[in-house]
Amino acid sequence: MKKKWWNEKIVYQVYPRSFKDTNGDGIGDVRGIIEKLDYIKSVGVDMIWISPIYKSPMKDNGYDISDYYAIDPIFGTMEDMDELLLKAKQKGLKVLMDLVVNHCSSEHEWFKKALKDPKGPYGDYFIIKEGKDGKAPNNWRSIFGGSVWEPIKGTPYYYYHTFAKEQPDLNWENPQLRREIYDMMNWWLKKGLGGFRVDAITYIKKDPSYKSLPADGADGLAALSEVSSNYPGIEVFLKEMREETFDVYDAFSVAEMSGVDAAKLREYIGPDGLFSSIFDFSYMELDVELFQWYRPVEVNATMVKEKLFESQSMAQEAESFLSVVLENHDQPRAAEKWFPKQVGYESQTMLATMNLMLRGIPFIYQGEEIGMTNSTFSDIREYEDIMLWGQYDRAKKEGCTEEECLDMANRRSRDHARTPMQWDDSEQAGFTTGKPALPVNDNYRTINVKKEEREGSVLDYYRKLTALRKSDEYRELLTYGEIYPALEEEKDVIAYERVRDGKKLLIVLNFLGENQKISLGNEERKIVLSNYKTEESCFGQVELQPFQALVLA
Ligand code: NOJ
Repeated sequence: MKKKWWNEKIVYQVYPRSFKDTNGDGIGDVRGIIEKLDYIKSVGVDMIWISPIYKSPMKDNGYDISDYYAIDPIFGTMEDMDELLLKAKQKGLKVLMDLVVNHCSSEHEWFKKALKDPKGPYGDYFIIKEGKDGKAPNNWRSIFGGSVWEPIKGTPYYYYHTFAKEQPDLNWENPQLRREIYDMMNWWLKKGLGGFRVDAITYIKKDPSYKSLPADGADGLAALSEVSSNYPGIEVFLKEMREETFDVYDAFSVAEMSGVDAAKLREYIGPDGLFSSIFDFSYMELDVELFQWYRPVEVNATMVKEKLFESQSMAQEAESFLSVVLENHDQPRAAEKWFPKQVGYESQTMLATMNLMLRGIPFIYQGEEIGMTNSTFSDIREYEDIMLWGQYDRAKKEGCTEEECLDMANRRSRDHARTPMQWDDSEQAGFTTGKPALPVNDNYRTINVKKEEREGSVLDYYRKLTALRKSDEYRELLTYGEIYPALEEEKDVIAYERVRDGKKLLIVLNFLGENQKISLGNEERKIVLSNYKTEESCFGQVELQPFQALVLA
């Protein structure tokens, strides 16, 4: 298979708002990222993805862009950004920016012009349709809840938004709009970006009939999965985008694009794929019903295994690389979802082992590497997360009590990943000298980077994992080696083998917070890494400790 420069990278995601504030306004900034580049590098990664820092009214924390060519003043200036790119390069770190082009902000110039003249040229940059009998054009539900349609005051028209009403969808059917997007991407790539993380791109093509669907909830609306999720024809846009932008700069692209099936994977991310990679979210939301946070589901190893191995084998067959991820800014902390009562070093490092030994491009989300946890808020109004409010409305309509809604928020809000990064045990965890928008997690005195700079910590373990992945001995195997499920008869164990050129590693993960006996066969195996102090080798009957992870040669 063709080797690409990004195949052996490990990526660290920075959510700038809560990473490091250098000017005391309570909001993280670009200078904060510059200040922490050495720390980021020390985790053992070689690429950074920065969530949006473009000019934005911040209705969805930057995923609503009002000017693609400007840095929002709350994050700094274009000079800061140029300096970040330069310093990152000097340290051997590639930088990815977030590309948010399914939609922009309702404060973007294009949209302001569209509102003034819905049938004019800028009106056609958006999806604008006439209502039916004084109602919205159809009953599709937006991802954040409520209709995808918003009326344009004083006109018979409505505009379409997949997410919040402040995030109008861009009309990809319009070639002029697509040209604007490609020019903007190239402008950034020319500055020396390594590439883009591509937001919500799944939704850019819609069923052109825009017909209503049978309602699937008490709100009378219907999910848009069938009509606007990887909808046929989307490939034409994606191919054009790749040829006009990524190909020109040999840039990396990782798309947020769930639900691409096995038959299409090669076309999407194979050796000549539309993107370099897509995120594997298949096991990320097993703890809730799809888009229904108020319906919790208990996660077990069997469920994870099924999804994980399905996507791993599908990627391998398609000679493609998924991006493997435990956490990001849209998810609660991973161990909290899977082992809500057993969050700690053992469960966190076991999951980390699972993720970092997989075949794919591993992503680490800020704070994950020090074992940050969810926050608990006593009042639902303390949450900022715009998605939570949509879920709250739906939960109410479905009959949930206020207490159940608070429980849902404390389990599921995206804000759990967005509380300030915990740097040390000083006031505000060393994140800011001001007052952070979201309060620092109460546990910052015990969980912080400074404290983690010791042997035996979560951070120390993450560094061991990244070092193993980069080691001369195992880099090739862990990057390109095939993956096969192992120990399949062990119900509560996730195990897999990585194999290449006669070399092998066996990864064994105890998915329970209690001891488990397993049988490893009679071949003596060297223990390359474990999250427990262990012997140097093992074979035969082995008693795994709670959440023990073993990497065996
Ligand atoms: C996915 C992003 O990760 C999320 O944070 C955002 O709210 C939506 N896309 C809309 O851009």
